[in-house]
Amino acid sequence: MSDLRFQQPDGDAALRDWQHVHNVIIPTHVLSLEEVRERSERHHLEIAYLDDALVGCSTVRPPTDDTLTATVIARVLAPYRGQGFGEALYRRGLHRARELGARVIETVVLSSNEDGLRFARKHGFIETERYLLPGDTIPWIDLRLS
Ligand SMILES: CC(C)(COP(=O)(O)OP(=O)(O)OC[C@H]1O[C@@H](n2cnc3c(N)ncnc32)[C@H](O)[C@@H]1OP(=O)(O)O)[C@@H](O)C(=O)NCCC(=O)NCCS
Repeated sequence: MSDLRFQQPDGDAALRDWQHVHNVIIPTHVLSLEEVRERSERHHLEIAYLDDALVGCSTVRPPTDDTLTATVIARVLAPYRGQGFGEALYRRGLHRARELGARVIETVVLSSNEDGLRFARKHGFIETERYLLPGDTIPWIDLRLS
């Protein structure tokens, strides 16, 4: 764990790393570099490296309305799972969301992502909604921290 480091994507190479993790884990919703750049302006994005190896990424969507609800999503590439990296990314995201004033924390998981669903449930999230976005075939699941 001691060599895990976190970085905000501040240039094209780092944005591509964030994009790579996102698109491998969410193949039903592939983002272009331009879309990732645009997200990096609205959301708090992080990338995790183990030494120089790309391990995972995270998204914090800040609270935007009077419900003070933020969304925290951790993603870890399959070969690096089960070593606490997801926990580290999630804890940092949660901390950031609370710093930004969030009172309610949500996450969103692709229903085919069994590791993600188990992780969210074990961390106290309860399913609130299951839905298909236009063009999708695999439902998304919204969960809220209880
Ligand atoms: C959710 C996700 C980020 C978890 O990543 P991860 O790095 O495997 O997470 P952790 O290693 O912290 O925890 C996973 C498991 O490994 C276990 N673990 C952690 N460190 C360990 C260690 N040193 N030795 C053995 N087991 C360990 C944890 O207890 C946990 O066990 P569980 O599955 O029985 O709960 C990853 O599965 C993922 O990217 N999923 C798809 C994206 C997604 O759906 N994200 C939404 C969730 S916020």
